[in-house]
Amino acid sequence: MAKKILVTGGTGYIGSHTVVELQQNGFEVVVIDNLANSSQKIIELIARISGKRPLFEKIDMTDKVLLDDFFLRHRGIEGVIHFAAFKAVGESVEKPLKYYHNNLVSLINLLECMTGMGANARLVFSSSCTVYGEPDQLPLTEKAPVKKAMSPYGNTKKISEEMIHDIAGRTPLQAISLRYFNPIGAHESALLGELPLGVPNNLVPFITQTAIGIRDQLRVFGNDYNTPDGTCIRDYIHVSDLAKAHVVALKRMLDHQNEAPHEVFNLGTGTGYSVLEAIASFEKTSGVALKWTFDERRPGDVEQLRADTTLANLRLGWKAEKGLDEMMDSAWKWEQNLAAGILND
Ligand code: UFG
Repeated sequence: MAKKILVTGGTGYIGSHTVVELQQNGFEVVVIDNLANSSQKIIELIARISGKRPLFEKIDMTDKVLLDDFFLRHRGIEGVIHFAAFKAVGESVEKPLKYYHNNLVSLINLLECMTGMGANARLVFSSSCTVYGEPDQLPLTEKAPVKKAMSPYGNTKKISEEMIHDIAGRTPLQAISLRYFNPIGAHESALLGELPLGVPNNLVPFITQTAIGIRDQLRVFGNDYNTPDGTCIRDYIHVSDLAKAHVVALKRMLDHQNEAPHEVFNLGTGTGYSVLEAIASFEKTSGVALKWTFDERRPGDVEQLRADTTLANLRLGWKAEKGLDEMMDSAWKWEQNLAAGILND
């Protein structure tokens, strides 16, 4: 019988790709999401790709009564992948309490509910390389120190990992936190992708929205960094590679292969690209000349980030496969599908 997995935030960007990947690996998926930053239409698009409509319930996880009720009605869940959280770094600086309340209360409620799962309490947690702050050394291994967070958003990831760590050490909870570098790109079907709310904060949605004509021009934040072309360097990773890593992490716990109650893995490609290299890749794959200009540095930006992925490669047997061009090409096809009204009724 198919194992039943709960995906919180399963209509979101990384969540939706992971739901498809789980289904394609034979899991039965239940999705909860409050749709704060996504659309229920995503469930239909997931079904179009996989041929299976995941069960969906609109639930705000900060509501413990609703979450308790959900777990009472859904016995036999054998693992949880927790994506449901707010993720806009800038907004978290403006509205810190909104972020602390949503991201931490949701997780606390989930962890309390999961105590009722006994040996089935397996959690894959959506974390971020933001926990490393400004790195002392590159590439970043999991042994690099976790530093003071650069934003309330980042702090919620740091605190969440700490809570999970303490609880996994003292209860039957088994957990794996995955520290993503920069997830970009879209599903190869071009039916799933990133859906920014309002003006995008992140580079790639801003690039594709500029190319399609929603934005006038891209501002490249800073050209005087200590990098070969003066712009920041990031380790971009295709969202589908990321989705696969979640399934592998879950299976590791289901197969009792995990070596500690709480493990942590970096997820990136191990290769860094500058903003200008990202633009060049987009222009090459799309054939569109992007309008862009240099602007001031963006406060809080780290100069360079790059993952050492050795641990994930060895322990999870996972390796990112898709390169920057494929990431850009898929993001552009998704943007074109959005413009064609894929989410309209
Ligand atoms: N950038 C621009 N112009 C834009 C947007 C971004 O030049 O309009 C630049 C940024 O300055 C940075 C690079 O593009 O150098 C990547 O920026 P993103 O906003 O796409 O990504 P970040 O690296 O800032 O943020 C990502 C995740 C966060 C996470 C953080 C950890 O989005 O969730 O990595 O470092 F916290």
